[in-house]
Amino acid sequence: MASQEAGSCPVAHVERSLLETGTLTDPTIRDHPQAFYAAMRSHEPVFYDAKLGSWLIARYEDAQTVLRDSETYSAERGYNTQFAKGFIDEFSAILKAEGGGFFPDVIKSDPPRHTRIRKLTDAAFSAHRVKQLEPGIVEIAADLVEKMLAKSDRGEQVDGVADFATPMTIRVICKQLGIFDLDPDTIKRWSHALIQQIGMVQTRDEMVAHARQVAECQNYLIAQIHDRQANPKEDMISDLVHARADDDNAALDFAETVSLVRALLIAGNETTSTGMGHLVYILATQPATAQRLYDSIDDDRLLGRFVEEMLRMDPPIRVTSRMTTREVELGGKTLPEGAHILLAYGSLNFDEREFACPYDFDVDRPNLTRQLAFGAGAHRCIGAALARMELKVAAREIVRRLDSIKLMIPADQLSYVPSIATHRIAFMPISFTRRA
Ligand code: HEM
Repeated sequence: MASQEAGSCPVAHVERSLLETGTLTDPTIRDHPQAFYAAMRSHEPVFYDAKLGSWLIARYEDAQTVLRDSETYSAERGYNTQFAKGFIDEFSAILKAEGGGFFPDVIKSDPPRHTRIRKLTDAAFSAHRVKQLEPGIVEIAADLVEKMLAKSDRGEQVDGVADFATPMTIRVICKQLGIFDLDPDTIKRWSHALIQQIGMVQTRDEMVAHARQVAECQNYLIAQIHDRQANPKEDMISDLVHARADDDNAALDFAETVSLVRALLIAGNETTSTGMGHLVYILATQPATAQRLYDSIDDDRLLGRFVEEMLRMDPPIRVTSRMTTREVELGGKTLPEGAHILLAYGSLNFDEREFACPYDFDVDRPNLTRQLAFGAGAHRCIGAALARMELKVAAREIVRRLDSIKLMIPADQLSYVPSIATHRIAFMPISFTRRA
């Protein structure tokens, strides 16, 4: 039943009762959270999830308030509370014993440290570096699409995640970092192990197994860093190892460098491949949108708008955390000092106060670029330009070569990797034909 209007779209009345037992730890809500989020936006936009011990922020405007005030809402304290939740001492002991040390994620620090780190990291993401990577990314995308075609010609089942999204981003990030001797499965394993530390649903046994994999990853990266210290190359690890701030010539210290190289390997990989999976999903399930891309294959602006709307509809990062540093009013609630906050991107991008007809996939919406998939404020995604370019290139190469892309199972049977941090399709069987 329609109870209010947003743009020209009727918005269904949402029952408050969904909030009585609702928690993001419930696998059904985690995989398909829209009804839960809509209830929060309507009735309790700052909602305490008792199972997580965190306040979920559901409305766009409240999220902007949080994201733009680093003093009241600490990224460092929020992230550290979420990281390896319940097991941090044991996790750090394993890393110290087996992985060359425990290196907290410095990019998640608060100012003034964050300002210094961010300045030094920005050097590795210059427009020049991103542009330099583009031809190689086109080659990777084209190669993977051809491999999917060959697999399909052999009569084998193609998985849009394992055969495209995952190898595409792993190959790009390896090129970017200058890593050429690792097999994709190893990076996939390491990424999963690290991203599970912010997923808030791992058991102790899983944490121990993941910590050992993170240790293996760090040992590998430490060797790469030592190599770049002695032999600088044209890659991002070298950019970070040799980064100097203009004003005082300060460099990153060793622990900061390890944590940043690790962050780039994982952040650039899990997030973009999750987005890449959604891209294939949209092309397979939104025929009218796919047709527009087919009709205007070289329209760079349209491709850009497609990528933006895809990120709005299914933001790969589902929550990021903050912690209050003082008592504060937000969304009609009084939060105490030390309240753990999760910004629910999957809700923010559907806020009908900001986006008219939010459930429609609409590349023509006027405020498309206000979507928040890359965050906002001081911690806004550093890899956004690179990720956007990768997604555009992937969309173009897929549309150039494939026709009639279809999902081989009903959409509601897709499974997602268990995590509250990302919304990652686990397996996506697809069919297609070769474009004439
Ligand atoms: C579609 C792909 C991507 C999405 C959706 C995404 C999303 C995000 C979001 C939401 C944040 C803000 C976190 C916060 O506010 O706490 C962030 C930060 C960050 N992202 Fe991305 N990201 C993507 C791709 C990448 C890539 C390709 C890289 C690097 C290779 C990267 C590196 C980072 C780093 C280092 C930060 C931390 C920045 C800071 O705290 O100053 N991301 N990303």
